Amino acid sequence: TTGGSLYDRIGPEALAALVTRFYGLVALDPRLAPIFPADLTLTAEKQLAFLTGFLGGPPLYHQRFGHPRLRARHLPFPITPERAQAWLACMNAALRDTPGIAPDDARELHAALARVAAHMVNTPPT
Ligand code: HEM
Repeated sequence: TTGGSLYDRIGPEALAALVTRFYGLVALDPRLAPIFPADLTLTAEKQLAFLTGFLGGPPLYHQRFGHPRLRARHLPFPITPERAQAWLACMNAALRDTPGIAPDDARELHAALARVAAHMVNTPPT
């Protein structure tokens, strides 16, 4: 870890690798796959753009797609607490398996995403 933003420390290559791994796991997760499109290419591109800005890099999502309004954008999908846990579990596994992300940075990223994920829950437990 060498100062700067989380984006500076992780770097664009490792971040892109993380997002690719993450959606590979989402596609295999029976709790998550049903609510995602079959083709995750655009979803992954949007997530990479979002995380780039969220972690302190260039505001790519805002530039390409406007204000993310994340909670509103997730309202069409029933996100239970279990689904939020599944999403974070996929992210944890992807973080573990992506070379070039220091453990401290992985923990910080996971904690930040856990806060956003909790905010996305819009459906009671099943
Ligand atoms: C889009 C599910 C948490 C960022 C989506 C989509 C689904 C989804 C189904 C639509 C995919 C598509 O149509 O391409 C979930 C679930 C979550 C979760 C189940 C569990 C809590 C998060 C979190 C973040 C996030 C924590 C941010 C760190 C995004 C972004 C998009 C997206 C940037 C693309 C929005 C757009 O269409 O422009 N998510 N999400 N999501 N999600 Fe999530």
